[in-house]
Formats: sequence, C-alpha cells, structure tokens
Amino acid sequence: MFEMTQRLKQLPPYLFARIDQIKQEEVKKGRKLIALGIGDPDLPTPEFVIKRLEQAARNPENHQYPSYWGMLEFRRAAARFMDKRFGVKVNAETEVLSLIGSKEGIAHIPLAFVNPGEAVLVPDPGYPVYNSATLFADGIPIPFRLKPENSFLPDFADLERLVRTGPRVKLLFLNYPNNPTGAVATLDFFKEVVAFAKKHKIIVCHDNAYSELYFDGKAQPSFLEVPGAKDVGVEFHSLSKTFNMTGWRVGFVAGNSRVVEGLAKVKTNIDSGIFNACQEAGIEALDHYEPFCTELRAIYQKRRDILIPALRKAGLQCQNPEATFYVWCKLAAGLKSEDFVLDLIRTKGIVSTPGTGFGLGGEGFVRFTLCSDASVLKQVAQILTGSI
Ligand SMILES: Cc1ncc(COP(=O)(O)O)c(C=O)c1O
Repeated sequence: MFEMTQRLKQLPPYLFARIDQIKQEEVKKGRKLIALGIGDPDLPTPEFVIKRLEQAARNPENHQYPSYWGMLEFRRAAARFMDKRFGVKVNAETEVLSLIGSKEGIAHIPLAFVNPGEAVLVPDPGYPVYNSATLFADGIPIPFRLKPENSFLPDFADLERLVRTGPRVKLLFLNYPNNPTGAVATLDFFKEVVAFAKKHKIIVCHDNAYSELYFDGKAQPSFLEVPGAKDVGVEFHSLSKTFNMTGWRVGFVAGNSRVVEGLAKVKTNIDSGIFNACQEAGIEALDHYEPFCTELRAIYQKRRDILIPALRKAGLQCQNPEATFYVWCKLAAGLKSEDFVLDLIRTKGIVSTPGTGFGLGGEGFVRFTLCSDASVLKQVAQILTGSI
C-alpha cells in the first residue's frame, strides 16, 4: 500500500538476513555464539570522560538546543587535537563542524555537493554508508576496487579511467586506516590523492575514524597533513572507536571551509546538533587522548597477536593489520564469503562478517573484529586450531 521510494529500493539487499537466521537457529539449539562480526568496542568509555558528562548533564544551560555548528569550545578542542596529534592547523570557527558521529556527516555530505546524476567514487570493499549516502542524494556511486596486490590502496589509473569515462565525479571517499581491510596509507599516497583531486576538481572526503587504533608504534597520518589537502577536501573524525564511545554519537569534520559550510547548511536543516553535555565530555576526551589511547592500542595489539596465528593455522590467509581492530582474511580459492561465514557459525559457533557486506570487491574475504576480550580470543584460537 505504501510504496517505498526508488532511493530505498536502490540500496543493496540486506545481506545479513540469512546470517541472522542461522545465528538464531544455533542459539535456539542452546549454542553460545562468539561474536567477532561487529566493530563495536567491548571496552567502556574512560572514567574521566564519564565524570565530565555527569557534571555537564547537571548544567541546565546544556539542556537546551545545542548550536548547529557545535559548541565552539568543542570545535576548539578538535582543532587542538588536529594540531597536537598531526601538526594540522584548522580554524575552529570556519573549518571544524561537530557531527552526531562521523556517520552522520558522511551520510549528509553528498546532499551538499552532489546533484542528481553526478557521481561519487566509493571504495570497494568499503564502509557501506559511502554508497547509500550517494544514493540518497540521487547521485551515482562508482565503486573502485581495493586489491590486495595494491595493499588495498586505489589504483590511480583506475580512478583516472572512471573519471574520464563516467558521469561528472564530484566526491571521492577514502578511508585509511581502512575498514574492512585494516590497510593504512602513507603521506606520499595522500599527496597523489591531492594532485588527482586538484586535476579533476573533486572533493576528497577522507574518513579517519580509526586514526588512533594503530599498532607497533606506527602512528598513521591525517590526509590534511599534505600541503594543499585543505584546498580539496575534509577529514572525518570520530570519538567512537578512539575512546570507546560508539553510543555517545560524537565526531567532527575538519578541513576545507567551503565544504564544511555546505555540510553545516544541510545539517542546520536536518538536525539540532550533539547534546552539549556530550560535547563537553568530548572536549575532555580530545584533550586527554594520551595516555588513554596508548593503553587502548596495547589491548588491541595483544588481541591481534592471539587471533592472527590461530586464523592462519586454520588455513586463512591474513596479514597483521597495521591499524584498526579488523582482521581481513582471504579465503581459499573458490570459497564464497557468505558460505564460509554460515559454515563457521554452524560448525564452530563463531560469527564473522562476509566480505561481500562491504561490496562485490569483498567476495572471497571475511572480516573478524578484535572487539572481544583476550580470554575469548584464546578460546577462539583453541576452537579454530582444533585443540578443544
Ligand atoms: C570506516 C568507518 N567510518 C565511520 C564510521 C562511523 O563511526 P561513528 O558514526 O560512530 O563516528 C564507522 C563505524 O563503524 C566506520 O567503520
């Protein structure tokens, strides 16, 4: 009776329906499943952040509508973080905008810059919101492959071809450290991105949601560190994974003032900003990211070093991720991602995510997360290696 829009019908089918069904069947049989599918930190938000929220929540001034752009003090804290962590200078008033989680900004930005029929380059495999956000703006998502032989970085020859042969490309989404592959990028790579974007007048939207989850002491860069990056793009940041705050919905975008302004214009007409008390807590977090993040990284690194050898012993091909809490594994030739995931649930009670959940380029891969305690991962290792 109530027909849904073409916009919604264009979204890829919900891939997890079959997996959810098999999970339910197993649970009904009394099986306890181990969830290594979802990228949601199991650890709590740090106490110092919660304390600040408690205080801020009691201030009646914080109970009113927040400002659309976000509290200036929060945006200043974001600018301080960008400077201290990356040496990137941004103007808190014109080049930073608070976001209700980085997903919100990613989902809205095509509405500001993509006209119906214009195109957006989206990584494949990639975070699915780049694709759906483009479709919601009546834009055309053009996937580009991230291949293992290219360290899961885009091939610029591919990008050039896509720009030359398709509809006018307005935006390019990139994400390093990368979900789902765990790949990282260098400043040299970002320099090429800036040159490419300048040449074709494309806005770069770099998603740096995993900036602090790097391993082996190798801090990963910001796209904005490259000279000229601010002329062509913005970078999305999130407190979700950095401070175990996925439920709080706090993030920000920084970079090109015109792009930030366009996104702010969309937001002003759609939402009313982040609860001020959460922004105050966000200031506390951003101003004290160390030593907290160092401790957090040590926890994930320990987990990574338990899970990877077990996955390899179980016959999966995976590299040590240099960042993120994801482990991206290549399946034996001919094996389908979804079949593998369903089989692993049925035979071992372990839930992972099929690579196809991130686009066609994810076929033949599976993603595991490190969002479970080391003791659970040890149990997973025993199950996978057949020692229990
Ligand atoms: C690559 C990437 N970007 C952005 C997000 C959104 O994060 P949030 O909206 O919590 O800031 C996620 C969440 O999983 C993600 O994986």
